[in-house]
Amino acid sequence: MSAPNRNLALEMVRATEAAAISAARCMGRGNKNEVDGAAVNAMRRVLNTVQMKGVVVIGEGEKDEAPMLFNGEQLGWAEDPMLDIAVDPVDGTRPTAEGKPNAISVVAFADRGSMFNPKHIFYMSKIAVGPQAAHAINIEASPSDNVRAVARALRKATQDVTVAVLDRPRHAELIKELRSIEARILLVADGDVAAALATCKQGSGADMMMGVGGSPEAVITACAMKCMGGNLQCKLWPRNDEEATKCKEAGLDLDRVLYLNDLVKSENVFFAATGVTDGTWLNGVRYTSDGILTDSVVMRSKSGTVRYIKAVHNPFKVNYNE
Ligand code: FBP
Repeated sequence: MSAPNRNLALEMVRATEAAAISAARCMGRGNKNEVDGAAVNAMRRVLNTVQMKGVVVIGEGEKDEAPMLFNGEQLGWAEDPMLDIAVDPVDGTRPTAEGKPNAISVVAFADRGSMFNPKHIFYMSKIAVGPQAAHAINIEASPSDNVRAVARALRKATQDVTVAVLDRPRHAELIKELRSIEARILLVADGDVAAALATCKQGSGADMMMGVGGSPEAVITACAMKCMGGNLQCKLWPRNDEEATKCKEAGLDLDRVLYLNDLVKSENVFFAATGVTDGTWLNGVRYTSDGILTDSVVMRSKSGTVRYIKAVHNPFKVNYNE
């Protein structure tokens, strides 16, 4: 135990709140880029007020050429602390644009040089669990073996284990196998960060998350897992031969299992998230006559403290869109 020092997560949450408020204003308007653009601008503005020398290692937007906080962008106004930054101003731009649930705004900080850089490999195969089953997973084993191991760790029947899976055609085989052992499946339209992190919350409705999702989201999820004591294992998942070749040329090993410490080496990790639309983990933004309500979580690996923050913002005093 050491005396608490500066908890950057308490400053970061202002950035996820701002991004969530700006993005949620565009909910249901059918324009993904508008959602992303609003969130990116608000997040950048607030992160630049933080006393730090941050560099974006995991930026968002390259995958679909959306507006982005780009990789290599410097944020903050000071010379130290020197930090790696992972951002996803809205994980779930599509559900936000379509007025659907489960979108969150997230940011993670860690010591400089400690976050894994997936370069141009957009996807990873992932398996995520909460603290109670942290030791039970092995991405090299079959999905059925993993579900059985998690069932043992959680002391329940295989049939009572709920696995969150992104609803994508590429998961047809995975779903078939999970059905064959009668595990429960929670199909998630979008947002595998929230789905993975829900496994850390008792009663959230998900015990595990499995399948292929974004690489940036994997690093962000790893940061939160380090804070909450859950686990995540990944493998790079090139979509085609061209990506596989690029991967090898960049010195990335396709067979390598990426453990939590490979995804984020530092033991000094900070994470903040705010709900954009309603989800199993966090409520979405509400615009009320009392003000704008946000629901956030902040955490830090060193202390292991997880704080849930409900805020009321005064729209007449603060305009994140300026
Ligand atoms: P964005 O909203 O940030 O684009 O990501 C949403 C998401 O569902 C992620 O949570 C997930 O990792 C990724 O997209 C999956 O990619 P795809 O939609 O291409 O299958």
